[in-house]
Amino acid sequence: MSAVVRSAFATHAPAQEVKVALLGLGTVGSAVLDRLQQWQAQEFKHPLRIVHVANSRHAARVDVDVCPLTVAQQVRAGQSNGIRTLQGSPSISAADLDAVESSLGATGLRLIIDATASDIVAARQAQWLERGIHVVTACKLGQGAGLQRFEALQRARELGSTQYGDSATVGAGLPVIRSIRELREGGDRITRIAGVLSGSLAWLFNQYDGMRPFSGWVREAGAKGYTEPDPRDDLSGEDVRRKILILARSAGVALASEAVQVQSLVPESLRELPANIAIEQLDALDAPLKQAFAQAYRQGEVLRHLAVLERDSNGQWQAQVGLQSLPPSHPLAGGAGTDNRIAIWSDRYCEQPLVIQGPGAGAQVTAAGLLDDALRVAKLYA
Ligand SMILES: NC(=O)c1ccc[n+]([C@@H]2O[C@H](COP(=O)([O-])OP(=O)(O)OC[C@H]3O[C@@H](n4cnc5c(N)ncnc54)[C@H](OP(=O)(O)O)[C@@H]3O)[C@@H](O)[C@H]2O)c1
Repeated sequence: MSAVVRSAFATHAPAQEVKVALLGLGTVGSAVLDRLQQWQAQEFKHPLRIVHVANSRHAARVDVDVCPLTVAQQVRAGQSNGIRTLQGSPSISAADLDAVESSLGATGLRLIIDATASDIVAARQAQWLERGIHVVTACKLGQGAGLQRFEALQRARELGSTQYGDSATVGAGLPVIRSIRELREGGDRITRIAGVLSGSLAWLFNQYDGMRPFSGWVREAGAKGYTEPDPRDDLSGEDVRRKILILARSAGVALASEAVQVQSLVPESLRELPANIAIEQLDALDAPLKQAFAQAYRQGEVLRHLAVLERDSNGQWQAQVGLQSLPPSHPLAGGAGTDNRIAIWSDRYCEQPLVIQGPGAGAQVTAAGLLDDALRVAKLYA
């Protein structure tokens, strides 16, 4: 996809400059800046200009002749002239978010890249769209939290003057949400979606062979950076809840957050413990998972962590997140590493689903997805 965008830029007059505020300088935000730096080294022409960078504590303007990476380093360190400590730090205030808007000025093409996991930032996205600022996001809390917030974003998008880039929210830029939308635009009705939507859980169940304790694999996944620092954040299934909500809502199913039934893999005994103690006691996972593995194995099947959206016997939409035992021939049983795999059934794909598979996690692909969306905005409004 980016190759198509790239050739379009290579052969046309320079596009109008897009002023960009980058919120979040963690793993993904840093990868966005690295990719922009690589583009510069490769002399790849693009119209994106970072004018503002911020983390949860500090913010700074990026002048035209200054490298955004340098400013980002100063923001992270909280030192140097021109670095502003956020008023609401460590939890951001409304004034801080107003300042992000001001940093983009009142005219021209303006875009915010949300590379945070901040609920406060997500709650502001609809307002930014209404005020003529495009938003590109990796954060699932805009479309994957409460239905009211999703509907506010939909209304703001339908005003039609701004774009909301969300391809990095599910599958880290894989063309999943886009494919669902394009099927609907072609008159198709989506009838079912099922997917392995968590890179870390995909890896865990691709590795787990019932021999070595599951907790050992969880520790190894943590050491490789596949899980969150507190692995309960992955094992709880809550992140996958948000992803299936985003896919359902993109398919035109206005599902409430509570309508998704999530089977947490975290044993009751670990749920309330401080993170460091829970990590020490991870072997509480081992017996129940060994039992589930053995049951699947006896049937010649494999365990996979799935999210499924489908109609129940009364025709009502419902979604479930949890472990399922699948025959090896099932479209979601294969794959490798941290791959995401998503199967979409629709009017046209009624017997064999459309299956999209590929790296669905990781800072590099997520940053690439964010920047693809940003370039799409630039191209639309050039
Ligand atoms: N990592 C992946 O592979 C991946 C894949 C797909 C989607 N995502 C999504 O991408 C987002 C970022 O993930 P990440 O892995 O980069 O997380 P991270 O390393 O924890 O970084 C989050 C960044 O957001 C900053 N932040 C928090 N609140 C903020 C605010 N109000 N204003 C400005 N900055 C704020 C944090 O600031 P401090 O440094 O001050 O705490 C930090 O710099 C998340 O929503 C995640 O779910 C990540």
